[in-house]
Amino acid sequence: MAKKHEIQFLVEQIYQTYHELEDGAVADYIPQLSLANPEHFGISVLSAKGNFFEYGDTNQLFTIQSMSKPLVYGMVLEIFGKQEVEKKIDIEPSGEAFNSIELQPQTNRPYNPMVNAGAITATGMLFNKYGKDSIDFILEKFSQAAGRNLEIDMEVYHSESSTGHRNRAIAYLLLNFDMIPDYVVQILEIYFAQCSILVNCHDLATISATIANLGENPQTKKEVFSIDAIKDMLSVMYTCGLYDNTGRWVNEVGIPAKSGVSGGIFGVVNRQLGIATYSPKLDFFGNSSRGIAAFRMLSKELGLHAFDCMNSGSNFLSTLLK
Ligand code: DON
Repeated sequence: MAKKHEIQFLVEQIYQTYHELEDGAVADYIPQLSLANPEHFGISVLSAKGNFFEYGDTNQLFTIQSMSKPLVYGMVLEIFGKQEVEKKIDIEPSGEAFNSIELQPQTNRPYNPMVNAGAITATGMLFNKYGKDSIDFILEKFSQAAGRNLEIDMEVYHSESSTGHRNRAIAYLLLNFDMIPDYVVQILEIYFAQCSILVNCHDLATISATIANLGENPQTKKEVFSIDAIKDMLSVMYTCGLYDNTGRWVNEVGIPAKSGVSGGIFGVVNRQLGIATYSPKLDFFGNSSRGIAAFRMLSKELGLHAFDCMNSGSNFLSTLLK
């Protein structure tokens, strides 16, 4: 029997260490999300060369939620160029919750594309060009990154659409300052639909490894994102990906990442690994408790922190993952 790979061994060890961690609570402000099984826990790692290491509930489907935000941001960067996008969405951490009803006081732009205001603005830019077809472009792009045809969970979509009044408040504020065109209702429906795209941990690790592999899906070998877009997506994930908990995340984990209220987190180790975790119980900031614990241990054990002084991760992985 072939010897178990060290990363596979580690992924299983992390699962065993944290599968009984009960901190946090499943999101319920979108009613349909509260139906998630709090015990689910999956960890998937895909190398930029195409090797998979996974354990736990990695086939369990969940909605992508805010993890759609860096991907749609990448799309608008590619379509409109950095200069045009920066006129509408800044790249500064807000230090506020993801759903805060707040714009920059000097420019009236959203602080960054990872908070709801910035993400709705990015979707508004797509809508301005493609109208209601925007959701087809989004589905197509996400599917290319995941390497399979993704679908929308219509129940989660309706659930968010019928309760998303806070996002309506944000969108009308954006309209007031001309950050989105005068199609608030339509833009929000596309935003709610993009958040309701179904993925599992395996898909999310593939999306993540596509970003790690400079935009090329390591499984299908298709180019999904341009190198320029990847650089800007990763930068903003690093500074703003876990909302008002990003400082601690960067300090302890040191990997550009994005979380979602469904309980997923994906992290990108540049040129090396795509990492995804899923577990629906969330901490105070809206990030998965088991996911954070898993990332912390993986980063420490593999030396993945961007400023790990041993740089052990890079050396270890580059020899191991050919
Ligand atoms: O806009 C919302 O409230 C959700 N569709 C997405 C929020 C989300 O995932 C925030 N992440 N932690």
